[in-house]
Amino acid sequence: MRIYHLSAECYPVAKVGGLADVVGALPKYQNQAGLNAAVVLPYYNRKFVREHQFDVVFQASNLLGTRRYEFEILKERDNVLGFELYLVHIPGLVDREEVYSYPDEREQFIAYQLAFLDWINWSQQSPDIIHCHDHHAGLIPFLLQHSALYKRIAKTPVVFTIHNGQYHGAFGWDRVALLPEIDMMAAGLLEWNGGINSLAAAVKCCSKYTTVSPSYLNELTIQSNGLEYLFYLENWKGTGIINGIDTDVWNPEKDAMIAASFSAKKPAGKAKNKQALCDRFNLDINKPLVSFIGRLVTEKGADLIADALAKSIVELGGQVNFLVLGTGDITTQSELKALAERFPQNCQVYIGYDEELSHLIYAGSDFLLMPSRVEPCGLNQLYALRYGTVPIVRSTGGLKDTVIDFGDEGGYGIRFNQASVDDICYSIGRALSLYQNTAQLQLLRKRMMALDFSWNQSAGQYIQLYQSLTPKL
Ligand code: ADP
Ligand code: GLC
Repeated sequence: MRIYHLSAECYPVAKVGGLADVVGALPKYQNQAGLNAAVVLPYYNRKFVREHQFDVVFQASNLLGTRRYEFEILKERDNVLGFELYLVHIPGLVDREEVYSYPDEREQFIAYQLAFLDWINWSQQSPDIIHCHDHHAGLIPFLLQHSALYKRIAKTPVVFTIHNGQYHGAFGWDRVALLPEIDMMAAGLLEWNGGINSLAAAVKCCSKYTTVSPSYLNELTIQSNGLEYLFYLENWKGTGIINGIDTDVWNPEKDAMIAASFSAKKPAGKAKNKQALCDRFNLDINKPLVSFIGRLVTEKGADLIADALAKSIVELGGQVNFLVLGTGDITTQSELKALAERFPQNCQVYIGYDEELSHLIYAGSDFLLMPSRVEPCGLNQLYALRYGTVPIVRSTGGLKDTVIDFGDEGGYGIRFNQASVDDICYSIGRALSLYQNTAQLQLLRKRMMALDFSWNQSAGQYIQLYQSLTPKL
């Protein structure tokens, strides 16, 4: 079964968050299960692309509004990632270093999607499934079905996965000319709230959509930035499939990015990682270390962290230490830096993106805090579990689906209900008590490290979904 995954991110080529981790791993596991899955990304002028060999497999030109552009499809020569990787290269438009936030982002992603469709169509390919991820690839199901250009492949089933329903890829009807000729009778399918909405169009036109956890499927009907009613109407078409993790990349026994290897059976190395982390950040190794890793945005509850940590440090008499790795909102960054200046012995903050440091933090921390307001799945808690680090999470989305509170039967994490300073502080207090009970902490570590959140579990559910859409195979 031939599948094309379309996404803006893919680890290790271009990563901003968990979307990259998923698209960098799921196709590999699908191929191990006997499928033929490939990834098609926009071209990024980044390290991975510069350091690997690519061949041009297709060249053509196309129109974006009145602008004619040349494009080429590049294929990575050696399949180093465990799947075929294709890049859509459009000089001057899709050829940049950063993944998001260019003023012409809309043009970039539209041109990327059109180039993919043209390539598949003109090179006479007939994939069994096109699997689009998030709004950056959200116009594909509509264009396939409602542009005469793609008649030959119009019936190809499209699976659409929602990693983040907050972002929609919306733009005004005044820019409809960016799209190729479409059947105007069907134009209503593009629309939500008076404009063109890529995410809404994808949900309406795809064969099936998935969310990255079962809880998030229903949460979208309550909180999706204006698309709640759409998700209520289309709920029958959705399935929640929890993300897996790539255990080749996230494995404390083999991870080259950490200071010492360890496992559930040989846990001693975990303390060495804590030592390395505390040495690097000048923190006392004898205190429990609670860390946060992530985008500093309100979705992640990052705006609550500075106040919550300050309150915890004061109320718990400085018995707990904190480490924050993240980048994002400027105000949140300044508040966190001010916190570290105020309590240098208890709190250290690293503003920036550092993949290697993130591995050491998962390995060397005692607890990982995730006070998310919205969390479609969340991978950080899954990495924390694998590295024997107790997740402290707000009960929402994928966090609710993957973390059981240690107070409940078979539990291993800490859960709280409200995204509030008080709930976070209360949970940090529970973490301190747990830390002081060494025997219980060790038991929980063993329990969580034995959990299997690898893609072996979830990849099969995607395969079943594909099979339901391609009965002939
Ligand atoms: P999201 O995709 O919403 O950001 P996820 O939990 O799914 O959240 O995935 C986040 C991914 O990005 C994880 O692999 C996490 O380790 C990584 N990450 C986030 N921020 C940073 C950072 N500042 N430095 C290194 N890795 C980060
Ligand atoms: C999104 C979500 C996150 C999820 C990731 C991968 O970025 O915010 O919760 O884990 O996608 O699916």
